[in-house]
Amino acid sequence: MKKELVLEVIQERWSPYALSQQTVEEFKIKAMMEAAGHAPSCNNEQPWLFVYTTRENEKVFNDYIEFLVEGNQIWAKNAYALIISMARTRFSHNGKPNRFAQYDTGMAVSNLLIQATAFDIHIHQMGGFSVEKVREYFRLGDDVEPIAAMAAGFLGDGTNLPADVLKKDENRRPRKTVNDYAFKNKLYNPAF
Ligand SMILES: Cc1cc2nc3c(=O)[nH]c(=O)nc-3n(C[C@H](O)[C@H](O)[C@H](O)COP(=O)(O)O)c2cc1C
Repeated sequence: MKKELVLEVIQERWSPYALSQQTVEEFKIKAMMEAAGHAPSCNNEQPWLFVYTTRENEKVFNDYIEFLVEGNQIWAKNAYALIISMARTRFSHNGKPNRFAQYDTGMAVSNLLIQATAFDIHIHQMGGFSVEKVREYFRLGDDVEPIAAMAAGFLGDGTNLPADVLKKDENRRPRKTVNDYAFKNKLYNPAF
């Protein structure tokens, strides 16, 4: 497949460290959440949960920042919104474990990212956060698994970022070539 055939919203997505504190309109956040909900899921379980806050609620915003490891707090505190994705890990109809819960939640996040990109909003995901703190804060039972944290906002100028962090935004992070991960007929048999 030619790279230029890949949709612009897919190619243009990236995860900056320099995020702006500028307000993101609520209707855009709502559209991003709605886009997430269009994702496919095993048995149409739709196991994803999203909880978010914005810097308009300083107290809650700072609580969310505390979930993050220090290396993420440094830059994520400039975001406009912080989002946490979670997955319900049991099927609602029979209570059995749903081994696709995290997979489906990832697909929902992917939709959310695409919608955000269409609004020129950037989302920088973070695995670097305390699952335990999130569990405690939201009083999660063992049927809900925190998955990832996300910092969201328009692109910032990075003025209040340490130089070494800002430098990471200078180049887009490299990608494997399609031949490294897509194969035809036999695994590892080059497709293109
Ligand atoms: C599940 C997940 C966890 C991540 N955790 C972190 C993190 O804790 N801190 C960070 O700076 N970036 C984190 N990232 C961002 C990745 O480093 C980034 O997506 C990757 O390098 C590709 O760059 P791009 O998103 O700009 O294309 C995470 C991304 C994902 C999907």
